[in-house]
Amino acid sequence: MEGGVMAKSIEIQGIAGTSRILVGEPLRNMGAWLPAGKRIMLTDSNVRRYYPSVFDPEAVIEVGSGEKVKDLETMRFIFERLVELEADRSSFLVGLGGGVVCDLTGFTASIYMRGIPFGLVPTTLLAQVDAGVGGKNGVNFAGYKNMIGTFTQPEFVLCDPQFLKTLPPGEIACGLAEIIKHAAIEDRELFSFLEDQVPAVLRLDPPVMENLVYRSLSIKAAIVGGDEREKGERRKLNFGHTLGHALEKVTGLSHGEAVSLGMVLAVDLSVKKGILQDSEGDRLKSLLQRFGLPVRLSFSVDRVTAALKLDKKREGEKLHFVFLKGIGSCEVKEIGLEELVRMVSEIIG
Ligand SMILES: NC(=O)c1ccc[n+]([C@@H]2O[C@H](COP(=O)([O-])OP(=O)(O)OC[C@H]3O[C@@H](n4cnc5c(N)ncnc54)[C@H](O)[C@@H]3O)[C@@H](O)[C@H]2O)c1
Repeated sequence: MEGGVMAKSIEIQGIAGTSRILVGEPLRNMGAWLPAGKRIMLTDSNVRRYYPSVFDPEAVIEVGSGEKVKDLETMRFIFERLVELEADRSSFLVGLGGGVVCDLTGFTASIYMRGIPFGLVPTTLLAQVDAGVGGKNGVNFAGYKNMIGTFTQPEFVLCDPQFLKTLPPGEIACGLAEIIKHAAIEDRELFSFLEDQVPAVLRLDPPVMENLVYRSLSIKAAIVGGDEREKGERRKLNFGHTLGHALEKVTGLSHGEAVSLGMVLAVDLSVKKGILQDSEGDRLKSLLQRFGLPVRLSFSVDRVTAALKLDKKREGEKLHFVFLKGIGSCEVKEIGLEELVRMVSEIIG
């Protein structure tokens, strides 16, 4: 607690334990959530440069920054450092950084000495509303994203809004794409709030951002709580991502930009299938545009469909595709890969 303001708390009941998510909790209060024993922090070089004073130099593991470090080589480096630091099963690992650090921390902690406890302090908007929460972790392998990893819940996720201040605008846009996704699939009222608050969001107004992070996380936590292993309900969170991942791979767009276009395509497909009214789809496109996210589709269909075919989410010849039924409501339907490819080709032309 700081200045009389209580952090908002959300719980996820995972198969192997409970994860507590604290929104609006300042980092300086982290000690209250840490057990006794050795504490080791994992971060990336960028975050450490921005926030040097939050790390104890004796117990920090620093990796490089960016998606390129999310691999087995970096895992090996982290394990070596953990051994050097004499980390044992009573040690606690804290990942402080963006989604890459969160994914590396969760994966490392879940397998080092058959599992040590860990917590996350996500420092990007994307990691606060998405990557840091839900228990998925992992690294990229053989050109595929998140090919190797586990489902393991962190003991806590501490979202401190102070970290958002140093984020470049592109990183903010990535997080906004996920917040818009959460609102679009599940919460019409949050969507309207976003429409009303565009200027406040763009200037990162703290109470508005805290509210957005909390409401967005509540949606993700409720979905994950009911389906930790992504056998049903959790698939909804892939809205915009099936095609978004393929676009990210072949266009060089950032994750947020690719997800934005993935949502636009999913909306067009939903209208084409007669599931969604045009006007509802236009609301989504307009909101994305107001936040500076791309909505115009112009890319090579062949390259995107080739990437789609390679996507790991492909389940045999059928995919679970998330269609929008209206703002705040979606439906996961099985669709044949060939049918999806044909429909995408018809839309892009
Ligand atoms: N596990 C999941 O459920 C899940 C969900 C979504 C995304 N992800 C993963 O998350 C990753 C993307 O996350 P990301 O966008 O946070 O990327 P990231 O971790 O690479 O961070 C983006 C950049 O911002 C820098 N940065 C981080 N915090 C900062 C701060 N406060 N101020 C200034 N710069 C800062 C980082 O050093 C990096 O350069 C991907 O690997 C993706 O697969 C995982």
